[in-house]
Amino acid sequence: MWRPPERIKFASDPGRWPGEEEARAAKWFSPVDLGPVRLKARTWVPAMVPWRATAEGFVSDNVIDWYQRFAQGRPGGLVVEATGIRDVPSGPLLRIGHDRFLPGLKRLADAVRAASGGETRLFIQLIDFLAIRRRPDPAKFFGRFLEVTPAHREALGGARWPEAQVKAALAGLSPDRLREVLIPREWESLTMGYRERVTDMGLDQIRALPETLPGLFADAAVRAREAGFDGVELHYAHAYTMSSFLSALNTRDDGYGGARENRVRLPLEVYERVRGATGADVAVGCRFLAEDCVEGGNTVADAAWFGTEFARAGMDFLSLSRGGRFEDAKQPGIGQSAYPYTGPSGYECMPSQFSDAKGPFGRNIGPTAEIRRAVRAAGFETPVIVTGGIHGFEQAEAILQAGDADLVGAARQSLCDPDWFAKVRAGCGGDVRTCEFTNYCEGLDQKHKQVTCKLWDRLDLEEPGVTMSDDGKRRLTPPVWRQTT
Ligand SMILES: Cc1cc2nc3c(=O)[nH]c(=O)nc-3n(C[C@H](O)[C@H](O)[C@H](O)COP(=O)(O)O)c2cc1C
Ligand code: SF4
Repeated sequence: MWRPPERIKFASDPGRWPGEEEARAAKWFSPVDLGPVRLKARTWVPAMVPWRATAEGFVSDNVIDWYQRFAQGRPGGLVVEATGIRDVPSGPLLRIGHDRFLPGLKRLADAVRAASGGETRLFIQLIDFLAIRRRPDPAKFFGRFLEVTPAHREALGGARWPEAQVKAALAGLSPDRLREVLIPREWESLTMGYRERVTDMGLDQIRALPETLPGLFADAAVRAREAGFDGVELHYAHAYTMSSFLSALNTRDDGYGGARENRVRLPLEVYERVRGATGADVAVGCRFLAEDCVEGGNTVADAAWFGTEFARAGMDFLSLSRGGRFEDAKQPGIGQSAYPYTGPSGYECMPSQFSDAKGPFGRNIGPTAEIRRAVRAAGFETPVIVTGGIHGFEQAEAILQAGDADLVGAARQSLCDPDWFAKVRAGCGGDVRTCEFTNYCEGLDQKHKQVTCKLWDRLDLEEPGVTMSDDGKRRLTPPVWRQTT
């Protein structure tokens, strides 16, 4: 994981905890409507992939345990991890691309409702992503993947050479020379692994995305409603397909790239189709980036413009994240895939305890507030959700009181202590286990290992009913909170 060169270490700083009376009167614990869905509190657990689905993408008992555990803390809103909308194998990532996934998803929605006493509203994040391959062994790359072109022959002076000779000659070049001979995309495929982009207009399936995606998202959203979810969050953030349509780096020439009006077209068409298919009783919103945080990517001015268009279209909520892009990802090892949270933009998405002078807490508040102001100035009351490094009551309440956002999300703090909302609300803030922003959890996520927290995964292993991770070393959900105060 990339760290700012300053490497200033920040200790968690949750601030003062409120007494029960103060907490109950707080804005953070007051209701809010996301379109047709009323949340009892403005507390929000954003999507987090815990790598607990079955290899075929079905809800497993471990998935149920995980979300049930979050529901026990009774957040106002809980978003189920990025869930694939296509019916294609995608490892242990939750899927919703076919009706066969419905029974498991229904069991999940029922479990959350029961564990929260009906208080937590449940959302599911719907994701589409493009193909990505592991970084190849160079011998394999030249032998199997690389298509020999006239440009290669010309650079090597081997116009009449058989293909195998061209490949062998390329494989023998120094990295500096290879960089000159290969085009940038070939160099990237060799050194990072092949990755599709929304701008690959030469590929049929990429050109056709504006035709295929609205229906896929809409079918997935209908399944979510049938399974009993209260709302869907369209994943328009980070490194994935829809975010890449929105990005200023999208240069498609078919009316879906270039100017902002074109880049927002598919995200709006997807939304319209989802809304039309689900009807008015399901909340439909999206998560998108306040800033891409990569060179040439979207700025907060772009995001403010998009936010206003999403609000105008009628979205029920706007959830802001930042960064997490492929463009600045670290080079993976041979046989590994590039991971979008490994560069500076990944740091912006999940800032850790080692930071620059700005620190890791609340880096997304200013940009989110700017986006919210633009949405309000255009006359829309759409609720806006901010997330990023927030781990204390005072900070959350101050954000709401200042009108910087309407809901405050906490991902890692909730993973560290899913009971923390209940604790704070009960005036037991002193019992909160505070996230140290180590990104140990994120390291596990990156390796597609079952995600746990460093602060609880080896505690009280003898507790009855503890389920252990596949490696047998870590408990999969945190110990039960026994109220002492
Ligand atoms: C293990 C892990 C998995 C995540 N998975 C997702 C995801 O599926 N979708 C998403 O939009 N964000 C995902 N995120 C990002 C979080 O939702 C959140 O934006 C980020 O962690 C910053 O918020 P925080 O400081 O409150 O943790 C993930 C974060 C972590 C730590
Ligand atoms: S492992 Fe735990 S303490 Fe470290 S960042 Fe993740 S949730 Fe926070």
